[in-house]
Amino acid sequence: MIKKLKQHQDDFDLLISKVSTLKELKQLRSEFLGKKGCVSLMLGEMRSLPDDQKPQAGKHINEFKQSVATLIQEKTQVFEKAFDQASVNGEEFDTTLPGRRNSSGSIHPVTQVMDEIISIFFSLGFKVEEGPEIESDFYNFEALNIPKDHPARDMQDTFYIGNEVLRTHTSPVQIHVMENQKPPLRIIAPGKVFRCDSDVSHTPMFHQIEGLMVDENLSFGDLKGVMNIFLHEIFGQQTKTRFRPSFFPFTCPSAEVDIECVMCSGQGCRVCSKTGWLEILGCGMVDPAVFKSVDYDSERWLGFAFGLGIERIAMLKYGISDIRLFFENDLRFLKQF
Ligand code: DAH
Repeated sequence: MIKKLKQHQDDFDLLISKVSTLKELKQLRSEFLGKKGCVSLMLGEMRSLPDDQKPQAGKHINEFKQSVATLIQEKTQVFEKAFDQASVNGEEFDTTLPGRRNSSGSIHPVTQVMDEIISIFFSLGFKVEEGPEIESDFYNFEALNIPKDHPARDMQDTFYIGNEVLRTHTSPVQIHVMENQKPPLRIIAPGKVFRCDSDVSHTPMFHQIEGLMVDENLSFGDLKGVMNIFLHEIFGQQTKTRFRPSFFPFTCPSAEVDIECVMCSGQGCRVCSKTGWLEILGCGMVDPAVFKSVDYDSERWLGFAFGLGIERIAMLKYGISDIRLFFENDLRFLKQF
């Protein structure tokens, strides 16, 4: 029995020294420690030994079993570590592992609509300008013909920072541009604006696009033409539009532009407050007082300007009923665009 055991030990030592893969190691384990492996067989044979030899034989067999198990365990760890390292180095990898999906992001719906609007105006010869988000009272109000104590200031619930304000609209970019560039010019100014306001259709931060064109011989007809081209591009060529007289301190005459309600096709519904029309933007001919504040000769130059809210357009385009969804970063919402 002892001799046999010695033979098994020699066999095992030789075999384990030659093993080079995890698979071979598994096989070796079943040959020696498996149900029909040599340790089991020897334990079976031990039963036929005389009783006085059994304990001694059992002890040797168990020691052999222990040492085989330990060596296999150690070698398994060595192999697994080497395998991991090889995978890291890209030398070898387990092709049976399921792949890892890359989840790719997408462009935010507000940015998508902003890009679309920019490209429409770009095709009409407008170039993009930017301005600061923190403005002085002069740029946000005064130069736009909104003097202190003018009731028009009440229309915009302003965040004040000391002597400055978070811009309440993109109109101040008109002033920066005219201060730095000579006419004629055609610009649009997309960006963030801020108002102390929050409900289903207002958020404290939202986006606007401002437009300004200055040239000789511009008329309200040019403004109407440009607005109609833009609205037909964005909402479809069939969309009906209408211009309503309105008031803005920085334009005269001023208008608000409506499109036929996209939800009910003009029948009247909850979204359009039963009027059949949706207000989309404000516009008008640049007030001479604004030209005066930037030293443009209002006898020579004429201009038109317009401003619109991007979230509102995105909401109408995609049928979104709560503006706050844009800023909650809920992937279930964002993944739909
Ligand atoms: N600044 C206005 C607002 O935020 C929008 C606006 C109206 C801009 C008429 C204009 C304009 O340039 O001509 O309410």
